[in-house]
Amino acid sequence: MIGRVRLLLAAIAFLKRHALLGVGRTLRSYKTLIPVAVEYKHGLDTGTNATAMEAMHARNAPRVLAMIHNLKGLYTKVGQVLSVRTDELPAAYVAELSTLQDALPPRPFRGVRAQVRRTLGRAARNLTLADGPPLGVASIGQVHRARFGGRDVCVKVQDERCRRQFKSDMAGCRVFCQLFSPGYLAMLDEIRRQFDTEFDYRHEAANLDEIRANLEARGERRVVVPKSVPALVTRTVLGMEFLRGPTLLSYAKRRVAAIERLPFFLRAVPYAFLRLELGRYYRVLVEVHGAQLLLDGCFNGDPHPGNILKSPDGTLGLIDYGQVKRIDDVMRRRLCLLMLALADDDDDAVVDAFVATGFRTRDMNRTVIAKYAHLWFNRDDRRSTDGMEPMKYYDELNLADPTVAVPEQLILASRMTWLLRCFGQAIGVRDVRLAREFRATALAALRTPVMLALGPAPP
Ligand SMILES: Nc1ncnc2c1ncn2[C@@H]1O[C@H](COP(=O)(O)OP(=O)(O)OP(=O)(O)O)[C@@H](O)[C@H]1O
Ligand SMILES: *[C@@H]1O[C@H](CO)[C@@H](O)[C@H](O)[C@H]1NC(C)=O
Ligand SMILES: *[C@@H]1O[C@H](CO)[C@@H](O)[C@H](O)[C@H]1NC(C)=O
Ligand SMILES: *[C@@H]1O[C@H](CO)[C@@H](O)[C@H](O)[C@H]1NC(C)=O
Repeated sequence: MIGRVRLLLAAIAFLKRHALLGVGRTLRSYKTLIPVAVEYKHGLDTGTNATAMEAMHARNAPRVLAMIHNLKGLYTKVGQVLSVRTDELPAAYVAELSTLQDALPPRPFRGVRAQVRRTLGRAARNLTLADGPPLGVASIGQVHRARFGGRDVCVKVQDERCRRQFKSDMAGCRVFCQLFSPGYLAMLDEIRRQFDTEFDYRHEAANLDEIRANLEARGERRVVVPKSVPALVTRTVLGMEFLRGPTLLSYAKRRVAAIERLPFFLRAVPYAFLRLELGRYYRVLVEVHGAQLLLDGCFNGDPHPGNILKSPDGTLGLIDYGQVKRIDDVMRRRLCLLMLALADDDDDAVVDAFVATGFRTRDMNRTVIAKYAHLWFNRDDRRSTDGMEPMKYYDELNLADPTVAVPEQLILASRMTWLLRCFGQAIGVRDVRLAREFRATALAALRTPVMLALGPAPP
């Protein structure tokens, strides 16, 4: 309980410090955050009981959410990242924050249509945007259904103000990091680079096409990636094939709600079925993303539950390729070797493999390096983190032996594995060991001609 509140305080502190550095919007966020933080601090100091704490969460969650809605941009991202940590956050916040996954208040339709006409020019003549609320609204854009030359498509339209705001937010964040937590700088810079490209939808269209082609080449039919529509692609507009289905997250929630309406002695069986079904989807996601990372070296770094659609035919629609990362063959081979060592719990080999990727700490303490590696790519359940919340554990490792160099190419890979682990935990998979699930794919990758040209494969 207290651990969860601590994490929340840390998140609020992050938002607060960050808000301090923005201009203009500062006051608005301060008005929300200060009273919330004060209330929690007081609660912690006076040892308020669990019931009273829950009431505090229920009261504050909508306030924090309203603030995030107001500020958009980076705050939405922080909110999204936090909302998948269902194991860490108080339930009231999860409920409120998870609405960020796909339900921000939309921009008025007329403005969106005008922007689409302006940027698409002639091609817009054949495009009919469906009037009414968007399919989805996210941090920097919103998605509308449309018809184009007889096809069902959807167009993602970027809110151009977000881009300017984001740039100044990130700059502020960096100054803060430099002063107070340089350990996070590399990570922040990598995230910023990724977001920079995320603001140009032409990159995203290219990503869609590449990931789609890779899946097709492997004959993968359990997941679908939307086709881009080249005539409808500009920096701020992205037209693509429309995929059916709710997000996997809202599907799961709806099923749970339906089961909860049954008398409690009838719930066990449908719950077991739901867990089986979600477990099947989890394995598909793990396999598909493992192959993207280790076989293709081109992967989606942001597979959060709001980006996974469950279509009626049982396939999964994987959308949102704003944060795709490519890693080169040399680094990919090192990562495969690291995954094998992690999967086999061979910590000596883990340390050698991780150091080979360019990872360095101040003292090069092998015990600590092995722990970093497991946390980055393999496991973060309580047994693996000495009972600590993972971010806290990461901070502890940084205190024991701070990182001085991290392989930039692997930061988003770590985030991707972390999101998959969160998903596993959220559906009740105990003690997720992701490297073990990636093992066969890592071996297969090491035995491809490209990899064999770089070095021998393990037996
Ligand atoms: N091809 C598609 N078919 C059907 N619905 C889609 C499609 N693409 C996007 N959507 C809907 O629009 C929403 C937002 O799309 P998307 O996640 O691509 O936006 P984003 O701005 O990149 O979001 P994020 O902040 O999650 O990165 C999705 O959650 C989904 O509901
Ligand atoms: C918790 O504290 C509140 C007020 O501080 C009190 O009214 C309530 O009875 C307490 N509940 C328990 C279970 O101790
Ligand atoms: C619009 O569609 C028509 C018929 O499908 C096609 O002939 C024409 O070239 C299209 N115009 C543009 C600008 O794409
Ligand atoms: C490495 O770090 C661990 C944990 O912090 C510590 O117990 C150990 O003494 C360190 N080893 C060396 C050689 O410094």
